[in-house]
Amino acid sequence: MLGISFEFIRFAHAKRAKILIADLQLGLIAISVSIWNDVPDIYIAGAGVFEPKWSSFWQDPENETYDSIAINVNHPIKLTRIAIQALLSRDKRGVVCIIGSIAGLAGNYAVPLYCASKHAVTGFVRSMVPCEELEGVKITAICPCLVRTPLWTDQSERMEQFSIDDAETVTAAQVGKAMITLVEDGQYKGGTVLEITAFGTRVIPEWNISPPPTKFTGIVSQTAIDRNLAPIRARLKKERRALL
Ligand SMILES: NC(=O)c1ccc[n+]([C@@H]2O[C@H](COP(=O)([O-])OP(=O)(O)OC[C@H]3O[C@@H](n4cnc5c(N)ncnc54)[C@H](O)[C@@H]3O)[C@@H](O)[C@H]2O)c1
Repeated sequence: MLGISFEFIRFAHAKRAKILIADLQLGLIAISVSIWNDVPDIYIAGAGVFEPKWSSFWQDPENETYDSIAINVNHPIKLTRIAIQALLSRDKRGVVCIIGSIAGLAGNYAVPLYCASKHAVTGFVRSMVPCEELEGVKITAICPCLVRTPLWTDQSERMEQFSIDDAETVTAAQVGKAMITLVEDGQYKGGTVLEITAFGTRVIPEWNISPPPTKFTGIVSQTAIDRNLAPIRARLKKERRALL
Protein backbone atom coordinates (compact mmCIF):
# COMPACT_ATOMS: atom_id res chain seq x y z
CA MET A 1 0.00 0.00 0.00
CA LEU A 2 1.54 3.31 -1.10
CA GLY A 3 0.82 6.92 -0.30
CA ILE A 4 -0.54 9.76 -2.43
CA SER A 5 2.82 11.42 -3.12
CA PHE A 6 4.27 8.15 -4.37
CA GLU A 7 1.43 7.81 -6.87
CA PHE A 8 1.99 11.39 -8.05
CA ILE A 9 5.68 10.54 -8.53
CA ARG A 10 4.75 7.45 -10.52
CA PHE A 11 2.71 9.54 -12.99
CA ALA A 12 5.35 12.28 -13.14
CA HIS A 13 8.07 9.68 -13.77
CA ALA A 14 6.03 8.23 -16.66
CA LYS A 15 6.09 11.74 -18.12
CA ARG A 16 9.88 11.62 -17.90
CA ALA A 17 10.11 14.14 -15.06
CA LYS A 18 13.30 14.18 -13.02
CA ILE A 19 12.37 13.56 -9.39
CA LEU A 20 13.96 14.54 -6.09
CA ILE A 21 12.48 13.27 -2.82
CA ALA A 22 13.84 15.22 0.13
CA ASP A 23 13.27 16.49 3.64
CA LEU A 24 13.27 20.25 4.11
CA GLN A 25 16.47 19.95 6.20
CA LEU A 26 18.47 18.22 3.46
CA GLY A 27 18.90 21.41 1.45
CA LEU A 28 16.88 20.17 -1.37
CA ILE A 29 17.54 23.10 -3.69
CA ALA A 30 21.30 22.77 -3.31
CA ILE A 31 21.04 19.09 -4.22
CA SER A 32 18.92 19.86 -7.30
CA VAL A 33 21.45 22.47 -8.43
CA SER A 34 24.37 20.14 -7.82
CA ILE A 35 22.79 17.28 -9.80
CA TRP A 36 21.01 19.14 -12.62
CA ASN A 37 22.34 22.69 -12.36
CA ASP A 38 18.73 23.80 -12.07
CA VAL A 39 15.97 24.27 -9.49
CA PRO A 40 12.78 22.14 -9.62
CA ASP A 41 9.75 23.33 -11.63
CA ILE A 42 7.17 21.53 -9.46
CA TYR A 43 7.11 21.21 -5.67
CA ILE A 44 4.84 18.75 -3.83
CA ALA A 45 4.28 19.10 -0.07
CA GLY A 46 3.21 15.52 0.55
CA ALA A 47 4.18 14.63 4.13
CA GLY A 48 1.41 14.60 6.70
CA VAL A 49 0.08 12.85 9.79
CA PHE A 50 -3.48 12.12 10.86
CA GLU A 51 -3.45 13.08 14.51
CA PRO A 52 -1.47 10.03 15.72
CA LYS A 53 -1.42 9.15 19.43
CA TRP A 54 1.91 10.98 19.87
CA SER A 55 0.42 14.25 18.64
CA SER A 56 -3.27 14.20 19.40
CA PHE A 57 -5.47 16.95 20.83
CA TRP A 58 -7.51 14.49 22.91
CA GLN A 59 -4.69 12.12 23.98
CA ASP A 60 -2.60 15.24 24.69
CA PRO A 61 0.87 13.70 25.17
CA GLU A 62 2.81 16.87 24.23
CA ASN A 63 3.75 19.59 26.68
CA GLU A 64 3.88 22.93 24.92
CA THR A 65 3.23 22.46 21.25
CA TYR A 66 1.91 20.00 18.67
CA ASP A 67 4.23 18.20 16.25
CA SER A 68 1.22 17.56 13.99
CA ILE A 69 1.08 21.28 13.32
CA ALA A 70 4.80 21.41 12.53
CA ILE A 71 4.43 18.58 10.02
CA ASN A 72 1.08 19.47 8.45
CA VAL A 73 1.36 23.28 8.51
CA ASN A 74 4.94 24.50 8.85
CA HIS A 75 6.31 22.05 6.29
CA PRO A 76 4.05 22.97 3.32
CA ILE A 77 4.30 26.68 4.07
CA LYS A 78 8.08 26.56 4.39
CA LEU A 79 8.40 24.44 1.24
CA THR A 80 6.33 27.03 -0.64
CA ARG A 81 8.63 29.83 0.48
CA ILE A 82 11.69 27.77 -0.50
CA ALA A 83 10.07 27.11 -3.91
CA ILE A 84 9.32 30.79 -4.55
CA GLN A 85 12.85 31.80 -3.64
CA ALA A 86 14.40 29.05 -5.78
CA LEU A 87 12.25 29.80 -8.83
CA LEU A 88 12.87 33.55 -8.60
CA SER A 89 16.61 32.94 -8.30
CA ARG A 90 16.53 31.36 -11.78
CA ASP A 91 13.77 33.66 -13.08
CA LYS A 92 11.62 30.59 -13.78
CA ARG A 93 7.90 29.89 -13.58
CA GLY A 94 6.79 26.97 -11.41
CA VAL A 95 4.05 25.24 -9.45
CA VAL A 96 3.54 24.21 -5.83
CA CYS A 97 0.92 21.60 -4.91
CA ILE A 98 0.16 21.03 -1.23
CA ILE A 99 -1.79 17.97 -0.14
CA GLY A 100 -4.54 19.44 2.02
CA SER A 101 -7.72 17.54 2.87
CA ILE A 102 -11.45 17.74 2.94
CA ALA A 103 -10.73 18.18 6.67
CA GLY A 104 -9.54 21.65 5.64
CA LEU A 105 -13.08 22.50 4.55
CA ALA A 106 -15.10 21.32 7.56
CA GLY A 107 -14.64 20.42 11.22
CA ASN A 108 -14.44 17.06 13.01
CA TYR A 109 -14.61 16.75 16.81
CA ALA A 110 -12.62 13.49 16.77
CA VAL A 111 -9.57 15.03 15.06
CA PRO A 112 -9.65 18.80 15.68
CA LEU A 113 -5.89 19.24 15.41
CA TYR A 114 -5.84 17.58 11.98
CA CYS A 115 -8.77 19.76 10.85
CA ALA A 116 -7.07 22.90 12.14
CA SER A 117 -3.84 21.99 10.31
CA LYS A 118 -5.65 21.39 7.03
CA HIS A 119 -7.71 24.59 7.38
CA ALA A 120 -4.38 26.38 7.73
CA VAL A 121 -3.29 24.92 4.39
CA THR A 122 -6.54 26.01 2.69
CA GLY A 123 -6.20 29.54 4.07
CA PHE A 124 -2.57 29.71 3.07
CA VAL A 125 -3.20 28.60 -0.52
CA ARG A 126 -6.12 31.01 -0.90
CA SER A 127 -3.79 33.78 0.26
CA MET A 128 -1.33 32.89 -2.50
CA VAL A 129 -3.70 33.63 -5.43
CA PRO A 130 -1.71 36.69 -6.68
CA CYS A 131 1.62 34.85 -6.67
CA GLU A 132 0.95 33.32 -10.10
CA GLU A 133 0.29 36.63 -11.83
CA LEU A 134 2.88 38.63 -9.91
CA GLU A 135 5.74 36.15 -9.68
CA GLY A 136 4.88 33.28 -12.05
CA VAL A 137 4.49 30.74 -9.23
CA LYS A 138 1.18 28.85 -9.15
CA ILE A 139 0.34 27.62 -5.64
CA THR A 140 -2.45 25.06 -5.25
CA ALA A 141 -3.95 22.51 -2.87
CA ILE A 142 -5.55 19.13 -3.51
CA CYS A 143 -8.15 18.21 -0.87
CA PRO A 144 -8.94 14.48 -0.91
CA CYS A 145 -11.65 12.85 1.17
CA LEU A 146 -10.83 9.26 2.15
CA VAL A 147 -7.84 7.60 0.48
CA ARG A 148 -6.79 4.11 1.53
CA THR A 149 -3.10 4.68 2.28
CA PRO A 150 -0.71 3.88 5.17
CA LEU A 151 -2.11 6.96 6.90
CA TRP A 152 -5.17 4.78 7.67
CA THR A 153 -3.82 1.26 7.35
CA ASP A 154 -0.97 1.94 9.80
CA GLN A 155 -3.62 2.85 12.41
CA SER A 156 -6.23 0.19 11.72
CA GLU A 157 -8.22 1.04 14.84
CA ARG A 158 -8.79 4.44 13.24
CA MET A 159 -10.46 2.80 10.22
CA GLU A 160 -12.93 1.23 12.61
CA GLN A 161 -13.39 4.45 14.57
CA PHE A 162 -14.23 6.41 11.40
CA SER A 163 -16.36 3.61 9.87
CA ILE A 164 -14.19 3.53 6.75
CA ASP A 165 -15.57 1.49 3.88
CA ASP A 166 -14.38 1.15 0.31
CA ALA A 167 -17.47 2.76 -1.23
CA GLU A 168 -16.40 6.16 0.10
CA THR A 169 -12.69 5.95 -0.69
CA VAL A 170 -10.68 7.05 -3.71
CA THR A 171 -7.37 5.43 -4.59
CA ALA A 172 -4.02 7.11 -4.10
CA ALA A 173 -3.56 6.75 -7.86
CA GLN A 174 -6.75 8.74 -8.53
CA VAL A 175 -5.47 11.52 -6.29
CA GLY A 176 -2.00 11.41 -7.87
CA LYS A 177 -3.53 11.72 -11.32
CA ALA A 178 -5.73 14.64 -10.24
CA MET A 179 -2.60 16.34 -8.88
CA ILE A 180 -0.89 16.01 -12.27
CA THR A 181 -3.88 17.71 -13.91
CA LEU A 182 -3.98 20.40 -11.21
CA VAL A 183 -0.30 21.15 -11.74
CA GLU A 184 -0.32 21.07 -15.56
CA ASP A 185 -3.70 22.37 -16.63
CA GLY A 186 -3.99 26.13 -17.14
CA GLN A 187 -7.69 26.05 -16.22
CA TYR A 188 -6.52 25.63 -12.61
CA LYS A 189 -5.11 28.97 -11.53
CA GLY A 190 -2.93 29.81 -8.56
CA GLY A 191 -4.92 29.58 -5.32
CA THR A 192 -7.03 26.67 -6.56
CA VAL A 193 -8.35 24.36 -3.83
CA LEU A 194 -9.39 21.15 -5.61
CA GLU A 195 -11.56 18.65 -3.75
CA ILE A 196 -11.49 14.97 -4.77
CA THR A 197 -13.94 12.46 -3.31
CA ALA A 198 -15.61 9.24 -4.46
CA PHE A 199 -18.35 11.55 -5.78
CA GLY A 200 -16.10 13.50 -8.15
CA THR A 201 -13.62 16.35 -8.39
CA ARG A 202 -14.49 20.03 -8.04
CA VAL A 203 -12.89 23.38 -7.32
CA ILE A 204 -13.94 24.75 -3.94
CA PRO A 205 -14.64 28.47 -4.24
CA GLU A 206 -13.78 30.82 -1.41
CA TRP A 207 -17.41 31.41 -0.45
CA ASN A 208 -20.56 29.28 -0.20
CA ILE A 209 -20.75 25.75 -1.51
CA SER A 210 -22.85 22.78 -0.45
CA PRO A 211 -21.02 19.73 0.95
CA PRO A 212 -20.43 16.59 -1.11
CA PRO A 213 -22.83 13.74 -0.22
CA THR A 214 -20.33 11.65 1.78
CA LYS A 215 -21.43 9.97 4.99
CA PHE A 216 -19.31 12.48 6.89
CA THR A 217 -21.22 15.45 5.55
CA GLY A 218 -24.71 13.94 5.18
CA ILE A 219 -26.90 12.25 7.77
CA VAL A 220 -24.61 10.17 10.00
CA SER A 221 -25.98 7.17 11.92
CA GLN A 222 -25.93 7.37 15.71
CA THR A 223 -23.90 4.13 15.80
CA ALA A 224 -21.18 5.68 13.63
CA ILE A 225 -21.19 8.85 15.75
CA ASP A 226 -20.91 6.83 18.98
CA ARG A 227 -18.07 4.73 17.55
CA ASN A 228 -16.27 7.82 16.36
CA LEU A 229 -16.47 9.59 19.71
CA ALA A 230 -15.93 6.57 21.98
CA PRO A 231 -12.16 7.02 22.55
CA ILE A 232 -12.61 10.71 23.28
CA ARG A 233 -15.52 10.18 25.69
CA ALA A 234 -13.53 7.45 27.48
CA ARG A 235 -10.52 9.70 27.85
CA LEU A 236 -12.48 12.74 29.04
CA LYS A 237 -14.45 10.60 31.48
CA LYS A 238 -11.15 9.85 33.24
CA GLU A 239 -10.25 13.56 33.29
CA ARG A 240 -13.58 14.69 34.84
CA ARG A 241 -13.11 15.40 38.56
CA ALA A 242 -9.53 14.07 38.39
CA LEU A 243 -8.02 16.88 40.44
CA LEU A 244 -4.60 17.97 39.15
N1 LIG B 1 -5.25 9.09 3.24
C1 LIG B 1 -6.27 9.95 3.33
O1 LIG B 1 -7.44 9.57 3.52
C2 LIG B 1 -5.99 11.42 3.16
C3 LIG B 1 -7.09 12.27 2.94
C4 LIG B 1 -6.88 13.62 2.81
C5 LIG B 1 -5.60 14.12 2.87
N2 LIG B 1 -4.54 13.29 3.07
C6 LIG B 1 -3.21 13.88 3.16
O2 LIG B 1 -2.38 13.32 2.20
C7 LIG B 1 -1.02 13.50 2.61
C8 LIG B 1 -0.28 12.21 2.34
O3 LIG B 1 -0.83 11.20 3.15
P1 LIG B 1 -1.08 9.71 2.63
O4 LIG B 1 -2.53 9.44 2.76
O5 LIG B 1 -0.41 9.51 1.32
O6 LIG B 1 -0.40 8.86 3.79
P2 LIG B 1 1.08 8.31 3.96
O7 LIG B 1 1.17 7.98 5.41
O8 LIG B 1 1.36 7.25 2.97
O9 LIG B 1 2.00 9.56 3.58
C9 LIG B 1 2.43 10.49 4.50
C10 LIG B 1 3.95 10.54 4.40
O10 LIG B 1 4.39 11.62 5.22
C11 LIG B 1 5.64 11.19 5.77
N3 LIG B 1 5.94 11.97 6.97
C12 LIG B 1 5.18 12.10 8.08
N4 LIG B 1 5.82 12.88 8.97
C13 LIG B 1 6.99 13.25 8.41
C14 LIG B 1 8.10 14.05 8.84
N5 LIG B 1 8.11 14.62 10.05
N6 LIG B 1 9.12 14.22 8.00
C15 LIG B 1 9.13 13.65 6.77
N7 LIG B 1 8.13 12.87 6.30
C16 LIG B 1 7.08 12.68 7.13
C17 LIG B 1 5.41 9.72 6.10
O11 LIG B 1 6.64 9.05 6.23
C18 LIG B 1 4.63 9.26 4.89
O12 LIG B 1 5.50 8.79 3.88
C19 LIG B 1 -1.06 13.93 4.07
O13 LIG B 1 -0.81 15.31 4.15
C20 LIG B 1 -2.50 13.63 4.48
O14 LIG B 1 -2.94 14.48 5.49
C21 LIG B 1 -4.71 11.94 3.21
